[in-house]
Amino acid sequence: MTVPLRSPKLLQVTLAVIKPDAVAHPFILQAIHQKILENRFIIVRSKDIFWTRKESESFYSEHKGRFFYQRLVEFMCSGPMRAYILAKENAVTHWRSLMGPTKVFRARFTAPESIRGSFGLTDTRNTTHGSDSSESASREIAFFFPEFRETQWFQEEESHFRLGNIFYDPEKHVHTIKHN
Ligand code: RTP
Ligand code: MG
Repeated sequence: MTVPLRSPKLLQVTLAVIKPDAVAHPFILQAIHQKILENRFIIVRSKDIFWTRKESESFYSEHKGRFFYQRLVEFMCSGPMRAYILAKENAVTHWRSLMGPTKVFRARFTAPESIRGSFGLTDTRNTTHGSDSSESASREIAFFFPEFRETQWFQEEESHFRLGNIFYDPEKHVHTIKHN
């Protein structure tokens, strides 16, 4: 029996991205997807995406000038990615803690069970991305999912998700509202 995904507090949404190093390995992609479900995140949207160089540069413009910027931009448009809108209480913090530290050696030693601790390859090819605040989440969700209306989702759908009136659709890989 599955326990319903109920949450007494307002849900928060965050953007989670599985980066090209992980998407290249179907087993790792599947393992991360499973981890998302096991950790009781609600998958509001899921999208497979392949960035142009321009999109990569634009998304990471805040890091322009840092020593790792070129490497990062090139890596993020080197292959397909999977993007998710995830919902949970404190989704931003939970997803970042599930990812583990940015730097892979630190992740391996201090959080070996984390996603980056388990699958990260290098400080650049570190498996996943997660928004670092609610404000970044709204901005980044709009970048990846321009068709998603966040305000409308909170007005019309959030309560269904919060009260657990949903099911997981294994074909579409997202949670969906139950219409009784
Ligand atoms: P993210 O944005 O990907 O969720 O990761 P983060 O907040 O933990 O890390 P951030 O400082 O925002 O850096 C963004 C991404 O840049 C790459 N990076 N490489 N070589 C390096 O030292 C280095 N530092 C950062 C990583 O891919 C990091 O996730
Ligand atoms: Mg960041």
